[in-house]
Amino acid sequence: ESGERDKLIEAHELTGKLYHYLLMNTSHGQPALEYLRSRGVTDKQIDQFLIGYAPPEWDTLVRFLDKREFKLDLMEKGGLLIAKQDGSGYIDRFRDRIMFPIRNGEGKAIALAGRILGEGQPKYLNSPETMLFNKSRSLYNFNQSRAAMRKSRRAVLFEGYMDVVKAWTAGVNNGVATMGTSLTESHAMILQRNVDEVLLCYDGDSAGQAAVVKTIPLLEKAGLRVQVAMLPKGMDPDEFIEKNGAQAFIRETIEHPVSVTKFKLIYAKKNHILLEEEGQKNYMLEAVGIIAELDSPTEREFYLKDLSREFDISLEALKQDCFQHRQQHQ
Ligand code: UTP
Ligand code: MN
Ligand code: MN
Ligand code: MN
Ligand code: MN
Repeated sequence: ESGERDKLIEAHELTGKLYHYLLMNTSHGQPALEYLRSRGVTDKQIDQFLIGYAPPEWDTLVRFLDKREFKLDLMEKGGLLIAKQDGSGYIDRFRDRIMFPIRNGEGKAIALAGRILGEGQPKYLNSPETMLFNKSRSLYNFNQSRAAMRKSRRAVLFEGYMDVVKAWTAGVNNGVATMGTSLTESHAMILQRNVDEVLLCYDGDSAGQAAVVKTIPLLEKAGLRVQVAMLPKGMDPDEFIEKNGAQAFIRETIEHPVSVTKFKLIYAKKNHILLEEEGQKNYMLEAVGIIAELDSPTEREFYLKDLSREFDISLEALKQDCFQHRQQHQ
């Protein structure tokens, strides 16, 4: 019902502002603010993304919403509150967490994500699926990045909130992230309606790299060109910016992506022990298989030549293997 949706959006807007106010203007928010500063998050970023703090009490938001005459059962349905087990009322869903408001394409607040201060589980608590919030169709920061996406015909896809926030200040104004889910077909469609190319900028750990492998075909199926930004082993964009600065991030990462084929070759290589004869042969054959998937003969030759030089194998032999591969996989 649209009346309920409007009420819930209003509640999310006010909640976001409340949390932001508590973070910036009260002593309760001080430890959270210090935590953010220790991670290099600036006041400008806090304002731009309306980052906030949900205090540890059980009923800060319950009382706030109740006083403003929001129906608490609706607030529970919208994911802001949780019903008590014994049915005697409600408690706040988010407590003692750094809060990130999540907005839809029109910029309306529809959900929240909360990060624990420091270590602990779950690291991020997101709003559940509600009448407003569908994770598989929502991209964090899409509302703020759409203009830059359309202008550059390109989007940068990150894994995390913090990556989007820090990259924004580094000048990446076309950055978005999925939220605790892998990219879906719906996400790919949203991107496809706004850009021609997606730069995948996932974490440099094994989970992130595996996610890149999974995400590439989804984006390609939606008709998008894909490039991959490579981060140093184990580092995510937020950590890279923290350690090396915004300029280095743009110069070394965003401006030097690799092609999908190159990425697949690098990724495949990690599974083989190249110091051993078997490892070398197996890698070469896997690499030929990756190259064989390319439609353009020129592109195939480009990568086969690289391989030929790297392992001192004749281009003719590699081409024959590649040809056989294509015949078998038609
Ligand atoms: P990461 O574990 O890479 O976290 O998860 P991060 O974004 O680098 O977080 P910081 O820098 O430590 O604060 C990537 C994304 O996966 C989702 C979040 O969207 C997160 O940004 N996630 C992760 C969850 O939804 N819940 C979790 O418990 C962890
Ligand atoms: Mn402010
Ligand atoms: Mn990660
Ligand atoms: Mn990360
Ligand atoms: Mn991070």
